[in-house]
Amino acid sequence: MSRCILVTGGAGYVGSHACKALAGAGYTPVTYDNLSGGHRWAVKWGPFEEGDLLDRLCLDEVMRRHRPVAVMHFAACAYVGESVENPAKYYLSNVAGTLSLLEAMRNHNVERIVFSSSCATYGIPDRVPITEDHPQNPINPYGTSKLMAERILADYHAAYGIKSISLRYFNAAGADPDGEIGECHDPETHLIPLVLDAALGRRPRVDVFGDDYDTEDGTCIRDYIHVTDLAEAHICALTHPDRDGAGAALAFNLGNGSGFSVRQVITAAERVTGRPIATKVAPRRAGDPPVLVSDSTRARRELGWTPQLTELATIIETARIWALRPQK
Ligand code: UFG
Repeated sequence: MSRCILVTGGAGYVGSHACKALAGAGYTPVTYDNLSGGHRWAVKWGPFEEGDLLDRLCLDEVMRRHRPVAVMHFAACAYVGESVENPAKYYLSNVAGTLSLLEAMRNHNVERIVFSSSCATYGIPDRVPITEDHPQNPINPYGTSKLMAERILADYHAAYGIKSISLRYFNAAGADPDGEIGECHDPETHLIPLVLDAALGRRPRVDVFGDDYDTEDGTCIRDYIHVTDLAEAHICALTHPDRDGAGAALAFNLGNGSGFSVRQVITAAERVTGRPIATKVAPRRAGDPPVLVSDSTRARRELGWTPQLTELATIIETARIWALRPQK
């Protein structure tokens, strides 16, 4: 039987780490990526096919040639702020793109998909830690687009039998501990790479987006989860038993279950790098919930997922080593 997995967005941050994990587990990841955010250099563990999700002819041709047994679907636009300014881009790429992919899967009898969803589907939580049955009321088009894709997956399971697992990531962070791949966004908006850039003297300071939230030090709290642990969760999801098809449009939270404030992340980065980091308090960023912390008990119990790189210092250290790579 084919061990080929089609990985949309396999040239991106989380997707490339998943390709490495797939290869380590004996699969052949075929990356399908339009390189709008991903990088050709990040495709190291299997064939690369350049294409867009909305290009059905290209998708069909790639599926026909590679005959994947399953799909991992990472390709998406993922800037919350941009999604507010340009929702069309987000609904086209994240919703219409997912539909196009699902139609190609139907056409080629591919019955399983693991989907990158997000804690952004919950909006501002009523309670933390957040369990999967928490109401999903996203507060920006990015979160809405991910929620719409989840709903489409549930309907495709009910009507066409396509089995899906949606993995709701909390804050993906860190880099491959072997230093082979890591985060490389343009523009970079994520806290940990920006904090490290400040520590390494590449930017003068870090803006702290709001210090008047209702949290202990007034800054936002997030649950940082190592990207290699996220990648491993995808392998667990891929090999998850069907359980006779019952309830086979499933969703799992992926986080460590510990929240760290923006200030705590900065202090931890100062400790890891041994350098002081200048900060400036800036206005709150639109669309930022004050606290997002995961309850990932279900993923641990039902997927057998056990995150390994759980310490914030370890997450920052792997990102630091990646940030110090020779610049191209
Ligand atoms: N932050 C700053 N200064 C910065 C950058 C970030 O204070 O320069 C703060 C943010 O306001 C937030 C925290 O640091 O409170 C983390 O911000 P990130 O941008 O690193 O991550 P987000 O929490 O905004 O984003 C993550 C995922 C998104 C997802 C979102 C859900 O990257 O894909 O969680 O809220 F949509």
